[in-house]
Amino acid sequence: MVAASSGVASVLSPLKGRDFLSSADVSAEQTAALLELARQLKCGDRRIDLGNRVLGLIFTKASTRTRVSFQVAMARLGGQTVDLNPQVTQLGRGEPLEDTARVLSRFCDVLAVRTFAQQELVDYAHWATIPVVNALTDLEHPCQALADFLTMQEAFGDLQGQTLAYVGDGNNVAHSLMLCGALLGVNVRIGCPEGFEPLAGVLDQARKLAVAGADIFVTSDPVAAVRGAQALYTDVWASMGQEQEQAERERAFQGFCLNEALLAEADPRAIVLHCLPAHRGEEISAGAMEGAASRIFDQAENRLHAQQALLACLMGGL
Ligand code: CP
Ligand code: NVA
Repeated sequence: MVAASSGVASVLSPLKGRDFLSSADVSAEQTAALLELARQLKCGDRRIDLGNRVLGLIFTKASTRTRVSFQVAMARLGGQTVDLNPQVTQLGRGEPLEDTARVLSRFCDVLAVRTFAQQELVDYAHWATIPVVNALTDLEHPCQALADFLTMQEAFGDLQGQTLAYVGDGNNVAHSLMLCGALLGVNVRIGCPEGFEPLAGVLDQARKLAVAGADIFVTSDPVAAVRGAQALYTDVWASMGQEQEQAERERAFQGFCLNEALLAEADPRAIVLHCLPAHRGEEISAGAMEGAASRIFDQAENRLHAQQALLACLMGGL
């Protein structure tokens, strides 16, 4: 764990000017330090003013938490955001990404991109001369994972050796939890129906990155996934772009609802997490969502603190 402010700064200063496209784009030590900086910012031990920097938001999918938490994070850092939704820019009329990324780099200091294909994000990072942040793609949601493990750390302190069980679709959120958890020494168990597993390449990558003996595994048995775990997590069964598969997925995911019965199999101190938006009665029961174990709204708030820490690092504000 990185504790002192000077230690955090020296670990995180190499992130200046870098992209954050994947949870694996930062080292194990940097991941822990990002959580520590987020904690310091949240409790008021640390204030960072970057001057009048500008974050451009290019979002081709809907968003409440990610959009607003980035906007508020920039405001708290003394900067501002520009909404570059393709519907209001020439992107929506076919202007090439490579031209857009180079032009925006002349106006903005950092870009956050939410889109479908990870390759599109990689292309933005290639053409932009400023840091590019993954604000969710079909492959990963790395900013979400930082907030998730910050929430788990608030509940349990040291994360190493703790277990997070994710029940549901082996999707973007699951991928980033596996990678980020591996870097933090957290055991990550993914319980998902056959045919909805996380990508084998991401599983291999997480296992290679794992520190402190963290075990990353996938099972089709939801009870085996959650047994004794300290955090139970789920996400929607049909992600953005998969709406037409909703009915088929509802059938496939029967038995994978995060409910009181699954919670009873976990550690008695276990917390319940969900990245939101949630569908009560589908991937999570109303009781699990609103019960005493739920930290879902702390988790949503932590998006702000985690992204404030990340933005400060990428813009060299430490
Ligand atoms: N969790 C999350 O990313 O929420 P939004 O889609 O509202 O940004
Ligand atoms: N897996 C979901 C996460 C939403 C925050 C999606 O991609 O739609």
